[in-house]
Amino acid sequence: MSRLKGLLLAGGHGTRLRPLTYTGNKHMLPIANKPMLMYGFDHLRATGITDIGIVLGPLHEGIKDALGDGSKFHVKITYIDQPDPKGIAHAVLISKDFLENEPFIVYLGDNLLKESIPKLAEEFIASKPDAMVVLARVKDPGRFGVVKIEDGKITKLVEKPKQFVSDYALAGVYFFQPSVFPVIETLRPSGRNELEITEAIQGLLQRGGLITFHEVSGWWKDTGRPEDILEANQLVLRDLKSSMRGKLDEGVSVSGSVEIGEGTHVHKGATIRGPAVIGDNSEIGPGAYVGPYTSIGSYVKILGTEIENSIVLDGSIIDCHDRVVDSIIGRNSQIRSNGTQRPSGRRFVVGESTYVSL
Ligand code: DAU
Repeated sequence: MSRLKGLLLAGGHGTRLRPLTYTGNKHMLPIANKPMLMYGFDHLRATGITDIGIVLGPLHEGIKDALGDGSKFHVKITYIDQPDPKGIAHAVLISKDFLENEPFIVYLGDNLLKESIPKLAEEFIASKPDAMVVLARVKDPGRFGVVKIEDGKITKLVEKPKQFVSDYALAGVYFFQPSVFPVIETLRPSGRNELEITEAIQGLLQRGGLITFHEVSGWWKDTGRPEDILEANQLVLRDLKSSMRGKLDEGVSVSGSVEIGEGTHVHKGATIRGPAVIGDNSEIGPGAYVGPYTSIGSYVKILGTEIENSIVLDGSIIDCHDRVVDSIIGRNSQIRSNGTQRPSGRRFVVGESTYVSL
């Protein structure tokens, strides 16, 4: 098993997640208080892979700090720089030296899957196809790479089809033999100016290569847009196990699965209805309500507020007498009530590409 190498992609544009991605890499956005990239990283480690390459774009703050050389996770990490996001196949191509003619897994760092990747790896190693792809049925195939299947075999792959080809989307996990490299070397940039991995697999197929597939049995989420991040948060929180390390005053009402970190104080009269996770050193004020599918980071204050189905990043303060729903609040942000301040009205300091719904 350890013969497989892992390639985790953390480059790309991140434009659809602005403004959150102006100040940080999208792959470090927390889903249930764990950076998105760590889900793929943990899957690769669970597969027994000890050699992991991570492709980084220009904005990669926090990734090297979190993962380092991999030794604290008992793996060896090689960072591969991709200054321009020229495509997934391009990311694979520039990782050729790292991959050293070994079979490998490509894991898109913005994809979350509830699936046994180790089991898939076993299947790939045993059957030795040129490539194995993971598929999920979707309602909006035009947003993905899709795969046409006829008589149980893949007959065609198309990236973001304008016309319906199939509702089987490529979920972001791919298994390859080094035989993919000569095909990638022949690719030309696509309409979006990228070397497409979907076209590389189509090329393999045309050369008579064997492409097998596995349909996901659990859920799969591509976290390209803010609403996907909230949905991924829900999916992960569904499996949350309760853990209380903070301080809960008497008269706090807690129900469902709730995780509360060290140094966090939940004040009298607060209500927490899980699944919800709260990081370390945060404060949930008297009378505040934290509702289902909410992830609150560390050093956050939720005061006098009701919040539900939302993600609040570290260091933010929400102190308003309103109900906050379906929201993602970036780091060190503040949302406060106006109180008696005159002239009355809403006051904002919002960055570029910010979304406010009043
Ligand atoms: O999410 C699954 C889909 O991912 C597949 O169905 C598509 O076939 C595949 O092309 C890809 O589509 P996206 O348009 O969603 O790809 P995105 O640009 O979001 O990039 C996916 C991941 O790869 C993301 O973690 C960033 C990383 N990446 C992307 C590019 C273009 C890189 O590291 N380098 C790159 O040059």
